[in-house]
Amino acid sequence: MTQIPIMGDDLPATMLAMLGDHFEVFPWDASPENPALKIVRGLVTYGHPRVDGSLLDCCPEVRVVSNHGVGVDHIDVPACLARNVAVGNTPGCLDASTADMTFALLLAAARNVVTGDAFARGPEFTHYDPSRLIGHEVTGSTLGIIGFGRIGRQVARRAAGFDMRVLYYGRTRQQAAEQTLRAEYAELPRLLAESDFVTLNCPLTEETRNLIGAAELAQMKPTAILINMARGGVVDHDALLQALEQGRIAKAALDVTEPEPLPRNHPLLSLPNVVIAPHLGSASDKTRRRMQEMTVENLKAGVQGEPLPFAVRA
Ligand code: DGY
Repeated sequence: MTQIPIMGDDLPATMLAMLGDHFEVFPWDASPENPALKIVRGLVTYGHPRVDGSLLDCCPEVRVVSNHGVGVDHIDVPACLARNVAVGNTPGCLDASTADMTFALLLAAARNVVTGDAFARGPEFTHYDPSRLIGHEVTGSTLGIIGFGRIGRQVARRAAGFDMRVLYYGRTRQQAAEQTLRAEYAELPRLLAESDFVTLNCPLTEETRNLIGAAELAQMKPTAILINMARGGVVDHDALLQALEQGRIAKAALDVTEPEPLPRNHPLLSLPNVVIAPHLGSASDKTRRRMQEMTVENLKAGVQGEPLPFAVRA
């Protein structure tokens, strides 16, 4: 059986098993001297390596870029499509797990789960003190969701269980969802001013890059908590650092940063009012399994020149 050459970055054993014997997998090496680039028919982006026109120009045989994940901001999609290279991603399967993680971080920040954990393990915890580590009440508060696509709407569903008032802001009004999810559309300034929690669940695009900067942080309540589940580039990190240091907002919970990871000496990492996770939005067993399957389904179709089951359009 002829093997189809592909290049993938750090593919896990489970995914290699799904690929079977039909593929020869080359390790990711985007340097133009890499001879594998001349022959690979597919690229699998597992951990967000950059794919741009200059890489594609070294890969004359490539037919598909199959991304493990829904966000494709690390892939120059127009450059792919201009070269007739299909781009696939994994929409839908990760909405629930990402919304769950949004709430995990929201609750962790609001209720001091991380600082409480460290305290409970340390020598200073000698007795129960009702004055200690008092957080923000989540139930009945106002949640502002920026980005009301599939993930944002799943966040709104979970918010209903906490009796939260939900405001949302996004590119398009979602009138049907407004009814079913009891969410209210608000322009960004009103959402920022009225929300106790602001969660970012939008893709990183030209429109959303640095969407939250000094001016936006200044519009938030001093008691507000910002949760970033989108991409680090949606937030101006210098402005965020200042806002957190100066108490202009209360806390931030970050699943993503820019750069990712932050340099180990980055001041955001030593702030007590920051909870940080290493990009765990969709990291649940069931979701990851489906993401791998969808990535492989896209790859298999793409290398054969067939339409992708989950294609990214221009
Ligand atoms: C996504 O699906 O975009 C996640 O961030 C993982 O890439």
